[in-house]
Amino acid sequence: THRRALRISVIGCGYLGAVHAACMAALGHEVIGVDVDARKVEALASGRPPFYEPELPELLSEMVATGRLQFSSDISDAASATVHFICVGTPQKRGENKADLRAVDAAMTALLGIVKPGDVVVGKSTVPVGTAERLVEMMAEVEPAATLAWNPEFLREGHAVKDTFHPDRLVYGVPDDAAGARTTSLLSQVYAKALAEGTPLIVTNYTTAQLVKVAANSFLATKISFINAMAELCEATGGDVVQLADAIGHDARIGRQFLNAGLGFGGGCLPKDIRAFMARAGELGVDQALAFLREVDSINMRRRVRMVDLAREVCEGSIVGRRVAVLGAAFKPESDDVRDSPALSVAAQMALQGADVVVTDPKAIENAADKWPDLHFVDTVEEAVTGAELVLLLTEWQQYVGLDPVELKRRVKMPRILDGRNALDSEAWRSAGWTYRALGRR
Ligand code: UGA
Repeated sequence: THRRALRISVIGCGYLGAVHAACMAALGHEVIGVDVDARKVEALASGRPPFYEPELPELLSEMVATGRLQFSSDISDAASATVHFICVGTPQKRGENKADLRAVDAAMTALLGIVKPGDVVVGKSTVPVGTAERLVEMMAEVEPAATLAWNPEFLREGHAVKDTFHPDRLVYGVPDDAAGARTTSLLSQVYAKALAEGTPLIVTNYTTAQLVKVAANSFLATKISFINAMAELCEATGGDVVQLADAIGHDARIGRQFLNAGLGFGGGCLPKDIRAFMARAGELGVDQALAFLREVDSINMRRRVRMVDLAREVCEGSIVGRRVAVLGAAFKPESDDVRDSPALSVAAQMALQGADVVVTDPKAIENAADKWPDLHFVDTVEEAVTGAELVLLLTEWQQYVGLDPVELKRRVKMPRILDGRNALDSEAWRSAGWTYRALGRR
């Protein structure tokens, strides 16, 4: 296949943008990453990601060294690019369920000052359906007009580099005209390598492309809450949710992935995406269609409450004054992201209820201490568990899953462990003399 290098700009260099920029450079394109945060730009330009993501530090420094990847806080440095990716964040609005689109609007406003005829602006941020159509109107007000495409991103934190190089599918939302056809072929030059490897491509309209993203995240959240609802049933009846997940997961129509019961989902995407989707459905007059997502959210939040209740149960009815070691602060392993972290929410709730909580995490301590200044953080598992009357595994980092129960037992005051992620070998812990309890299992 014919692979032509393109000039690409990436507006917004957070998790999504920084990874996208580095990966595009690795594919041979000339890339300029732009961000309003000068400190972030400075770190990236010297090859250091301002967050933890496996494989990214190596890739970033290698690409910066080639000169093909640059970073700037000045949008005019993006003027020579042909394809401009909008990769800014769309967080939940404070006190509301809606998405905050200020960064998207600001990115588009900035781009309007520099785009040339024939350029393509590509939206990657997760947005409420209808945003792309509104951005097209913004673009139509200035001449010369560029074309908008909507190209949602499905990468997972912790696997972002691999997911960007080898996506499960590509989705382009483009207008149904000659400019749309030209945009499709330009995007297919951007992603020539993935397409040559057989990545499925869906070319559709703006509306569908925007919906695909939130539909996918809603489905994943629903799958997790489904199995967590089954965990509630297992708790009430003496069933085992892990065996149940294995058994139903063998049905290829169901599939075992995303059926891990436990503390539920957190992070910067699933929780806020399902809420923003519900809010948007309400605006569109079809809130009934997504009423089930309210249940998905409630089931998810109930897991955190259940975890604290279980802690009280194994501590003879009270956690007041008890030393509790929390293993894990990040919302999931292989990430230093603490946004809406189930682990920290449980740790904070237990501290509020009078427990003497000590939290550790391999990567997220700094971020966690920033957001939760009242919690007590330590660097190592050893420090965290020494003298503990209860240990909670709340983020299933590999190094925690591999802990030696015999060795750990020597350090704690009471060998009691709650497995919030159904990640530990229960038999190994029990035979080492621990009281082992997990969500959704006996
Ligand atoms: C999620 C989606 O998986 C990505 O496809 C999407 O691109 C991304 O959001 C996004 O919108 O940007 P991410 O938030 O990085 O990715 O993490 P996930 O791997 O989806 O995990 C989300 C949460 O669900 C974590 O707290 C995890 O512990 C929890 N989870 C996951 C479970 O409780 N059980 C499972 O079986 C799987």
